[in-house]
Amino acid sequence: MDKIMIHGGSKLKGEVTISGSKNSALPILFATLLTDDPVVIKNVPSLDDVRTTLLFLNFMEKETVKRGNAIEVYSSDNRTYKHIAPYDLVKKMRASILVMGPLLARLKKADVSLPGGCAIGARPIDIHLEAFKKLGAEISVEGGYVKTFAKSGLRGTIINFRFPSVGATENVMLTAVLAEGETTIINAACEPEIEDLAVVLNKMGAKVTGAGTKNIVIEGVNKLHGFKHEIIPDRIEAATYIIAAAITKGEIILRKVIPQHLKSINDKLRKSGLYIKELDNTIYVKWVKNLYPQSIKTGVYPGFPTDVQAQWMALMCLVNGRSSIKENVFENRFLHVAELRRFGADISVGGRVVNIKGVKKFSGAPVMVSDIRAGAALVLAGLAACGTTTLSRIYHLDRGYEMFEKKLKELGADVRRFCD
Ligand code: EPZ
Repeated sequence: MDKIMIHGGSKLKGEVTISGSKNSALPILFATLLTDDPVVIKNVPSLDDVRTTLLFLNFMEKETVKRGNAIEVYSSDNRTYKHIAPYDLVKKMRASILVMGPLLARLKKADVSLPGGCAIGARPIDIHLEAFKKLGAEISVEGGYVKTFAKSGLRGTIINFRFPSVGATENVMLTAVLAEGETTIINAACEPEIEDLAVVLNKMGAKVTGAGTKNIVIEGVNKLHGFKHEIIPDRIEAATYIIAAAITKGEIILRKVIPQHLKSINDKLRKSGLYIKELDNTIYVKWVKNLYPQSIKTGVYPGFPTDVQAQWMALMCLVNGRSSIKENVFENRFLHVAELRRFGADISVGGRVVNIKGVKKFSGAPVMVSDIRAGAALVLAGLAACGTTTLSRIYHLDRGYEMFEKKLKELGADVRRFCD
């Protein structure tokens, strides 16, 4: 199995180019199922989750061609339009549930294997299914599959989310664009990835307004056509590198970012004492003095993202003083606490709150990755630690960080991947 070895202590210096957003690329790739026309999607990150999604499209008899960081998607001439998404594909990636929307929209039926939970939580799909029911689909669960069937077609309606689920917002958008009449989502997710998906759907001929706000209105149309699009930069990857500069007391420039997408994180980092300057699609970060502890509460966008919580925890563990983290989005997103303690972190957990007492230094240790962002936090801890850190189960990292070691090496980190 692949592992990563880090010899800590290097201050990161130099430039890093941020890749396209994983969490924007996935729904947009699934959106290609809504048309038989060719599409071209640029700035697609080379990640395992993207490769899994391309396997999905191939299973649905879409031909996919990778040209650099662009993906071209074509429909096979005699497509049979499968409506089933098999377990062996779905189990690789929870976001596979996003295949349900396009299949329901075009075929009026979809059988998708239940995605199952993951390390950070049970990850239910009740909000998705409630919405499909309101749009006119019958739902049943048989043999580990969620089966949906809209025998009288899909009709637009008002859908009020009990929680602004990102995936459920995307799934409803992917369905309602071909439903009859108007659909309004109340309490929709506002993440930038939702806006990026809406831009794509409107390029396809859909009529989506309000994306990025709590209320999204989708007027159904009969047919959608091809599109060309460039995926927005990955704000979570960018935040990870900014925190890497802070934790190693370094100085880096990030290229191809959208600073507005990082506002909640950069506001907290500035309050902590990090120097940050934003210029168009560039961010300059420099550690200039010992940081002050800053407590955070994660929340939906534009709040502090849950996907940066673990990285923030690693940073606060090495800042003198006390801070706390409240995780408001997922019920079990503290698996990195035990691993950070192996470096010497002083953290206590009480339900959805952790209390941190900063320590002077970390000592490198062998640690295990439990999910994408926990893995990123352990990499940051290893970069700052004295001595050697070895990370196992790094396949989680390969799902969400493109060329992670290569980019870190170019910033001066002593990091290498090996197989043992
Ligand atoms: C998306 O997951 C992201 N994944 C996650 O990023 C991210 O952490 C999450 O949004 C929150 O921002 C992708 O975009 C592919 P949710 P998603 O539906 O859509 C509960 C990463 O590291 N919920 O907004 O699954 C759920 O259990 C990943 O890149 C229900 O209860 O997130 C969770 O507690 C990790 N019922 C909360 O809502 C539902 O039907 C947020 O989930 C759906 C969700």
